Amino acid sequence: MDERVISSEAEVGDSQFEQSLRPQFLRQYIGQDKVKHNLQIFIEAAKLREECLDHVLLYGPPGLGKTTLAAVIANEMGVNLRTTSGPAIERPGDLAAILTALEPGDVLFIDEIHRLPRSIEEVLYPAMEDFCLDIVIGKGPSARSVRLDLPPFTLVGATTRAGAISAPLRDRFGVLCRLEYYTEEQLKDIVVRTAEILDTSITSTGAIEMARRSRGTPRIANRLLRRVRDFAQVKGDGEITSELASQALELLQVDKKGLDHIDHKLILSIMDRFKGGPVGLDTMAASIGEESDTIEDVYEPYLLQIGFLQRTPRGRMVTNLAYEHFDREVPK
Ligand SMILES: Nc1ncnc2c1ncn2[C@@H]1O[C@H](COP(=O)(O)OP(=O)(O)O)[C@@H](O)[C@H]1O
Ligand SMILES: [Mg+2]
Repeated sequence: MDERVISSEAEVGDSQFEQSLRPQFLRQYIGQDKVKHNLQIFIEAAKLREECLDHVLLYGPPGLGKTTLAAVIANEMGVNLRTTSGPAIERPGDLAAILTALEPGDVLFIDEIHRLPRSIEEVLYPAMEDFCLDIVIGKGPSARSVRLDLPPFTLVGATTRAGAISAPLRDRFGVLCRLEYYTEEQLKDIVVRTAEILDTSITSTGAIEMARRSRGTPRIANRLLRRVRDFAQVKGDGEITSELASQALELLQVDKKGLDHIDHKLILSIMDRFKGGPVGLDTMAASIGEESDTIEDVYEPYLLQIGFLQRTPRGRMVTNLAYEHFDREVPK
């Protein structure tokens, strides 16, 4: 079978799996305490006033719970969730169709909102501000603009790159929430919760081992748990112990810090080919055959977070910590 087919099947399987694990309400949503606390207050206030919640922008690296939180917000408000994404909306009419179909109070979730074309962003401004649409009818001298009222709604936008959102769009969100990498303790709770849902038994130290190697990211914790569960069933008695977890993760090429083979390639290439840096993002991406965007959105943030990589005005550099982790001498 060709690789693309396999990976797309895997993705479908993964997204159904993810869906089944999504917490539905704030009290089930683990971690992100500051964000939860604020949202709780805003949601309660909006409900007391019988208004809809102010527009919310969620940002942070992939897999930290943005899509999940959008659904949680709709559930907490007791309204419908409508979902779309930046790249899916190609023409202003697409957005107008979505907006006019909303019911009062609904949550409209726009994933990857930084990828909305500018012409469509402009349709959003009056919709967000005044709940109305300005539509141009006709062409040339006979063209005229008509104002259409929309039901009040809450826009929830998600992005991995807050910096890529234009200032006028960002300013129209009343609530900005930055999601952070999860602590080991929080990831342990997530692993235990997922194991319960999957009806898999896991020891406390097994869960800690899984948490430690999950790059601070619930999506990765859940994926690894699914893989390690297979090992436990085939190689063990079904229970995930710390030993079994660490053996299985070694085999899956996930190291003690949770770094995978791409992280390794990235860091080792900076060490070996660029004497530890500084090296520009595009050069680094080309040297390991990955997309610059993927490196910037997916790999780099965690490596920065754990202090293996540093961003300098002249490019990326690996740190002494990284040399230590890879058991290498720091170059003079
Ligand atoms: N706070 C959390 N508590 C428990 N599980 C979570 C949490 N955040 C995310 N997850 C799990 O991680 C997976 C990925 O989350 P998702 O919302 O899709 O991330 P994002 O949209 O930020 O990429 C989901 O399956 C979800 O169940
Ligand atoms: Mg998402």
